[in-house]
Amino acid sequence: TLLHPFLESLPKCEHHLHIEGSLEPSLLFELAAKNNIVLPQDDEAFESQDALQARYKRFTSLDDFLHYYYIGMSVLITPEDFAQLAMEYFQKAAKTGVYHAEIFFDPQAHLERGVSYSTLMEGFTTARYRAQHELGMTTLLVSCFLRHLPPTNSISVFNQPDVLKSYRAGQVVGIGLDSSEKDFPPHLFKDLYAMATTLKLRRTAHAGEEGPVEYIRDALESLGIDRIDHGLHLADDEELMALVAKRGTLLTLCPLSNVVLKCVETLSDVPIRKFLDAGVKFSINSDDPAYFGGNYILDNYCAVQETFDLSIDEWKTICRSGIEGSWCTTSRKAEMI
Ligand code: ADE
Ligand code: ZN
Repeated sequence: TLLHPFLESLPKCEHHLHIEGSLEPSLLFELAAKNNIVLPQDDEAFESQDALQARYKRFTSLDDFLHYYYIGMSVLITPEDFAQLAMEYFQKAAKTGVYHAEIFFDPQAHLERGVSYSTLMEGFTTARYRAQHELGMTTLLVSCFLRHLPPTNSISVFNQPDVLKSYRAGQVVGIGLDSSEKDFPPHLFKDLYAMATTLKLRRTAHAGEEGPVEYIRDALESLGIDRIDHGLHLADDEELMALVAKRGTLLTLCPLSNVVLKCVETLSDVPIRKFLDAGVKFSINSDDPAYFGGNYILDNYCAVQETFDLSIDEWKTICRSGIEGSWCTTSRKAEMI
């Protein structure tokens, strides 16, 4: 687009990026070989990188994608694997003008397959240190809990001594809620979020991606969240949309993700214009870029520009909302504005 250099130069914050979703097929196969991980042999998608990329172009739903996402992350074993994964993302992000990234990770998905929490923390800490010192980029970690598992499992993981320690040390600043949305309403995780509130952790949750707008209302009412991940269906309820605008709650939109996972038919169905006009604050993010055609944050910005033809002032508003809605220090925010 004409505005590409402008969009690239904007001080961008990324708030919705599953680090496991940045696992490129090339690294997936490389780590599988290194760690002797046997990928499913009854699925021809795993026969080659090209076959896998082709399969990624045919996702039919969130759950269809999640099936590949959980298999993909099974190649991550050592602290070095997690450090490499995160560092490769940080490098790509920094190159396209991301100043600050708050990344999600799914501890339960790794613990369930025998990878310890300290392995994740060690790898992410290495990468975060390098991002700060080599790229001048600030980063934060947000621990997501899986809604397809019993809420009791999320509570026992949350209360593991090493997990509590990562909160106290400020290594992890907040919690989120992700994975399959339909049939897993937010209030099921009320107790988990009450504990996070007690510990003064930041709180967000995926809501209204595949699920209905009622799940957004439920997440706001039951979980005490200060952010909404996706919130695509917020535009279905004018009254709730006005309330979210008034409260200044940030939505972390992922426009290309919504297209690839068939949550919308085309990008023009993402209610960007409605949100701008209603004064709803949002940031634009990449979600799981390695699974969505290698489209990172700037690709999302450019696609939104192609479709909605926003003004320079509107782009500045979007970036300012992102900075102000970030969970970094006030002084870091001041540096970015
Ligand atoms: N986990 C990784 N990406 C996700 C998404 N887009 N929605 C829900 N859970 C996810
Ligand atoms: Zn997501």
